[in-house]
Amino acid sequence: MNILGIETSCDETAAAVVKDGRVVLSNVVYTQIPLHRPYGGVVPEIASRAHVEKISEVINEAIAKFQEVEPDGLIDAIAVTYGPGLSPALIVGLNAAKGLALSLGVPLYCINHIEAHLHTPFLRDYGEESPGSIEARMPALALAISGGHTNWFELSEYGSYELLGQTLDDAAGEAFDKAAKLLNLGYPGGPKIDAIAKAYRAIFGSDTRRWKESLEVFPKGCPREGVSSLAGLPADMCVSFSGLKTALLRYVQKHEELLTPSDDEPRIEYKSGEEVTLELARIVSSYQEAIVGAVADRTRTALRRGEYRSFIIGGGVSLNSRLRESLSQLAEKEGVEFLTAKPKYCGDNGAMIAALAYYRQNLSGDEALSIDVAPSLEIG
Ligand code: KG4
Ligand code: ZN
Repeated sequence: MNILGIETSCDETAAAVVKDGRVVLSNVVYTQIPLHRPYGGVVPEIASRAHVEKISEVINEAIAKFQEVEPDGLIDAIAVTYGPGLSPALIVGLNAAKGLALSLGVPLYCINHIEAHLHTPFLRDYGEESPGSIEARMPALALAISGGHTNWFELSEYGSYELLGQTLDDAAGEAFDKAAKLLNLGYPGGPKIDAIAKAYRAIFGSDTRRWKESLEVFPKGCPREGVSSLAGLPADMCVSFSGLKTALLRYVQKHEELLTPSDDEPRIEYKSGEEVTLELARIVSSYQEAIVGAVADRTRTALRRGEYRSFIIGGGVSLNSRLRESLSQLAEKEGVEFLTAKPKYCGDNGAMIAALAYYRQNLSGDEALSIDVAPSLEIG
């Protein structure tokens, strides 16, 4: 079964064709990041207009690439993200998907964006070996970590989600992006912070202890002492990034020279032609370490509390190299399989939407054709 997936929940216009929920036959992503960069974040109206301008081109390209792989292949169904995300952005994809499903006379499936992120470790490219059975990986602990979410779920079986923990304020991606904005590093902040922290750590080679000792200690978002439950969830499975953000702000206010360095401050190059002062790199690394540490702590708690075969992570922040390293080491230590997507499937894409639709055909028919966007959609 070939499903065409459409994704427009935020700042990527994306479409893909996936066979039987696993094999990616085509995958086209148009990113709007350069359009939003001058504003330091995603502007919903700009996102919506750019989706309108690009969606037909992106869908046509995804279909053309699919036909290169399967010249006689047909699209059997359309899948689309209907939430969560930005309402004016979601509407563009949903309307395009409804029109396409009606004109092709095929079913429409409406998909939850976050749940789709958690399916990405099971995607494979055309001609590649299968990563094996999904059911054999259950029960699983799953972490959805993106610009809008930081949620831990227990999957007792595939498709059944119990929320175990979450952020009480900002999502991890938001925490990265806000820090980058404060430090004048541009948008989106996550990839920049990742690259700067990597360059800083490289100075210390394999001397991990000296690298860690060089870092500033920022709060790891632990719940206040004495609090046992938050938002109906155990406090030790919740995380808060607002204190970390404030701690960074205070540090910057106290050390004005961080953002206005003298010309003779030592610098490091973190990307060809781009450099920052060593001190800024140290602070950026310390901030990233606090986020990674907070996420790893909650993950360790969850892994020790439950009986899992695997630990799945999905979402844009799962691209973070330090987070991947830390969580994969943790999973190995706790004896569970670590499952994450290839980098090209970590950010928003249509393949994850098309793939999940194969397993989630419950929202279809007239119900799907008359559905509205659900900007605050939750899993479950
Ligand atoms: O999943 P995604 O593409 O969109 C949402 O569904 O939110 O995630 C976007 C988020 C942004 O906050 C971005 O800064 C973050 O993912 N991100 C990263 C990295 N790459 C993207 N965060 C940390 N390190 C990265 N390498
Ligand atoms: Zn996403």
